[in-house]
Amino acid sequence: PTPYEIALIPGDGIGPELVDSAVQVLEAAAGPDIALRFTTEDAGADTYRRTGSALSDETFARLSGYAGILKGPVGLPEVRKPDGTEGGLLGGILRGGLDTYVNERPMTLLPGIDRPLRGTAPIDYVIVRENTEGLYLARGLGVGNDHACTDQLLMTRPGVERVVRYAFELARTRDGAPADGVRRVTCVDKSNVLRTFAFFRQIFDEIGEQYPDIERDYRYADAAGHDLVANPSHFDVLVMENFLGDILSDVGAATIGGLGMCPAGNIGDGTAYFEPIHGSAPTIAGRDLANPTSQILAAAMLADRIGAAGLAQRVRAAVRAAYEGGHIRILPTGSPEAGTAAATRAIIDALGD
Ligand code: NAD
Ligand code: IPM
Ligand code: MN
Repeated sequence: PTPYEIALIPGDGIGPELVDSAVQVLEAAAGPDIALRFTTEDAGADTYRRTGSALSDETFARLSGYAGILKGPVGLPEVRKPDGTEGGLLGGILRGGLDTYVNERPMTLLPGIDRPLRGTAPIDYVIVRENTEGLYLARGLGVGNDHACTDQLLMTRPGVERVVRYAFELARTRDGAPADGVRRVTCVDKSNVLRTFAFFRQIFDEIGEQYPDIERDYRYADAAGHDLVANPSHFDVLVMENFLGDILSDVGAATIGGLGMCPAGNIGDGTAYFEPIHGSAPTIAGRDLANPTSQILAAAMLADRIGAAGLAQRVRAAVRAAYEGGHIRILPTGSPEAGTAAATRAIIDALGD
């Protein structure tokens, strides 16, 4: 078979060990019918430290030529741009540069994970985070003068429309569902205080009217934070501004076994790239302590995107089986009890179960 060309961006901190785990799982799951060819691309904080640029123009230009991009976390807090901000050193370049306007973050509680919460209802929802504007438009502009500082929160009509439409389409088509089976999109905003968010909610309603089969649901962001912890099984698809989505996705992660359980797709009309929601976790890097599940599930999202649905399904089933069988135990710290390598092996062993 003609190989799928996949770019790997190992990134910083725990990134290289996670990407290595995900590649092992993809190769084991591919079988004889699917060929994958991996090419490593250099980007991130360490690249910035060595070359003065987090991502060269040549590397960036090559990225859109791949069938898929699997990225590890990037950024090291001690590596800062001359303006004093760090910002992952890459998120802005890739997300804006590739116009990946959706950051899709599925939150699924797997069997065998110790619930930090009361109750037994399933948790299975998706955060759709706007990924190119909102409060993040201001990133990387420096801290200004000593006296005062402002950041701009920009929402454009096309920018809101496209991400809201994505959320409603996802609610129609995705496999998972909330506990009560009612397909819904929850608009998370702060429209009671900020006019940008009132604008967001207005457009949410306009687009939502075109989806009469999907329930329209609303939460102010503070209450959304509460309900994601207190009643997560209510949610199906949630759509929100960039900064809110950043915070609330890490909140959601805490209810399903930690950041190491959570993949993300940065998705546009053209190129997409897949990564964990978490960062480079520098304090646990190189110590076999990182949970590779986030990166492995990101690889499954990538497989879906490139049209290898069978491969995606096999990877997800193996992850689920490894947890269900008790072959991976996640400690309260977020690390797999037996280590990164053993967790990876447990998933590979579960392929075909
Ligand atoms: P972080 O997500 O790296 O770590 C937060 C906490 O979660 C730490 O205790 C860490 O040890 C733990 N953790 C994270 N992933 C884990 C995993 N797979 N298994 C077990 N434990 C895990 O956040 P941070 O420390 O605030 O940021 C570190 C760096 O990562 C910063 O430079 C930040 O800008 C960057 N970052 C990058 C991305 C990205 O590339 N998309 C995302 C978030 C943060
Ligand atoms: C994420 C990260 C990034 C963000 C940082 C590293 C710029 O936290 O992907 O969630 O805030 O978007
Ligand atoms: Mn984040």
